[in-house]
Amino acid sequence: MCGIIGYIGKKNPIEFLIDGLKKLEYRGYDSSGIAIKDENSVQLIKSTGRIKNLENKINNTKVLDGNIGIAHTRWATHGMPTVANAHPHKVSKVTLVHNGIIENAEELKAKLMEEGQIFKSDTDTEVACAVINKYYTGNPISAITKATNILRGSYAFGIIFDDQDKLYAVRKDSPLIVGIGNYENYIASDIAAIINYTNKYMLLNDNEVIELSNDNIKIYKDNKEIKKEVSTANISAEEADKGDYKHFMLKEIMEEPLVLARTLNKYINDMSKIYDISGYKEIHIVACGSAMYAGLIGKNLIEEKANIKCFVECASEYRYEKVVYDRKTLVILVSQSGETADTIAAMRKAKENDIDTLAIVNVKTSTIAREADNVIFIEAGPEIAVATTKAYLLQVAILSLIALRAAYKKGLEQKYTEILTEAKELPVKLQKVLNDHDKFLKIAQDIYKNHDVFYIGRGVDYAMCLEGSLKLKEVSYTHSDAYQAGELKHGTISLIEKDTPVFAIISDDKIKNKTESNVIEVASRGAKVFTITNDINIKDHYFKYVVPKIDYYFQPILIVPPLQLVGYYVGDLKGLDIDKPRNLAKSVTVE
Ligand code: F6R
Repeated sequence: MCGIIGYIGKKNPIEFLIDGLKKLEYRGYDSSGIAIKDENSVQLIKSTGRIKNLENKINNTKVLDGNIGIAHTRWATHGMPTVANAHPHKVSKVTLVHNGIIENAEELKAKLMEEGQIFKSDTDTEVACAVINKYYTGNPISAITKATNILRGSYAFGIIFDDQDKLYAVRKDSPLIVGIGNYENYIASDIAAIINYTNKYMLLNDNEVIELSNDNIKIYKDNKEIKKEVSTANISAEEADKGDYKHFMLKEIMEEPLVLARTLNKYINDMSKIYDISGYKEIHIVACGSAMYAGLIGKNLIEEKANIKCFVECASEYRYEKVVYDRKTLVILVSQSGETADTIAAMRKAKENDIDTLAIVNVKTSTIAREADNVIFIEAGPEIAVATTKAYLLQVAILSLIALRAAYKKGLEQKYTEILTEAKELPVKLQKVLNDHDKFLKIAQDIYKNHDVFYIGRGVDYAMCLEGSLKLKEVSYTHSDAYQAGELKHGTISLIEKDTPVFAIISDDKIKNKTESNVIEVASRGAKVFTITNDINIKDHYFKYVVPKIDYYFQPILIVPPLQLVGYYVGDLKGLDIDKPRNLAKSVTVE
């Protein structure tokens, strides 16, 4: 979703801002813009499309020689992606960039128009700008604070005032951090945007107003100054860089053995860090997209091994539906970004009902990480490609460890120590699978011209199919569907014709032969069946890839990466913008 970057220091900020915008590109956007302030005025430059277009515009413009700047990548919500709707917006002396949605914008806009305000865009952001301007009589902190009492919804604002030599910011339910540099300070939606300049940052709570100069940072809550802790980010600049890889997505898949080893070492050596769910009667795993599909693998393991009833719900439904909490329930939120609006709302719903919450999160500075009762961090490092790969895999790994610990605690798992020892071999086994990347490229070459692709499996294998199918759809724009293998003949099998690609996932011993029968059904109707299995004895109908065998708890970790690579290669063969697929955003901070 939208990205914000801001600078105050001694230099002209253009280079810093453009570099930051490029680092934020992965969040998804359709237009961008900057504002630069010198002593006397503020200059706005905006463009639609890629940041390159903005850069070209800047290169053809006489840019102010100021040392305060804010910049923005916009993912359109209110109004089309046009130059007029792109941020920054300026109303009189106030210029701002915004991430989030102002829910009462229409109502406020009508009132402001009655008072004579003229609007130049269709955005809720210009309304927020006009509200701050209305209250601005020379004291920025007071004007921003008053505005936050009126604006409803979510926002992160970077704000400059024509007659102030400082940079201001405030946030509510939308990410924004303050970066601390050497005689320069920054604001950013994400630490990855500023990690080349500093690893020192401050987290902001809702409606704390920040005032930055090049050598000072002041924070106000309800107009009173407060103090804040400074944190240090432990990610390196290289982790947020593509290196020699063609795409971040490929780099992040290839990093999986490394991040898996990092995460497993942290927890296997001290399983008390894995939250003990054995005392709960019911688990609700709530998440969106791939994180929800990771949750489905977790559900299979938790029910099968720890014997605890477990439901998986998509957060956008869970937040609004009637949830009956009549047993001792734990709500597990799974989120890479920790900023997904629906997942945040689901977490707050559980908390309002006095239900315990556990979050599995990657971004340590995120809202979910800060608000959940308990947090288990995956150690994926920055994930830049919009389509999640390594973070998904680590979410699955943590859910496997949660199921294993609970099963052990309940006396249902006798081989606990052996399984943990075996888990330590996972990164090496996964590396072996990824070393076969040419085989997955060959599959992609075989199918990339097909319009429809199917994935079939049962139980935990079906959960993997959902993720494989989503990866293919989002990065290659190929229509695909995942089906419980037994369900196919209740309708969908009519779509299978000669050469339709069907991926069959077969890993669960209990139901292997059932899925095999379904494979025969599609193969005999002409499908090209690509079987991914852990069993060398499974019959090969067209193509078969056998992953190393590992305990049931961890098998998905070796099966999903080939599906991720197939999705990647199909997208690449089609020449698509893999890291930033159309219409998608990395962290979905609006409903
Ligand atoms: C798909 C993908 C999305 C996210 C979903 C949740 O590749 O990345 O489906 O998994 O938007 O995002 P987080 O995990 O940040 O809450």
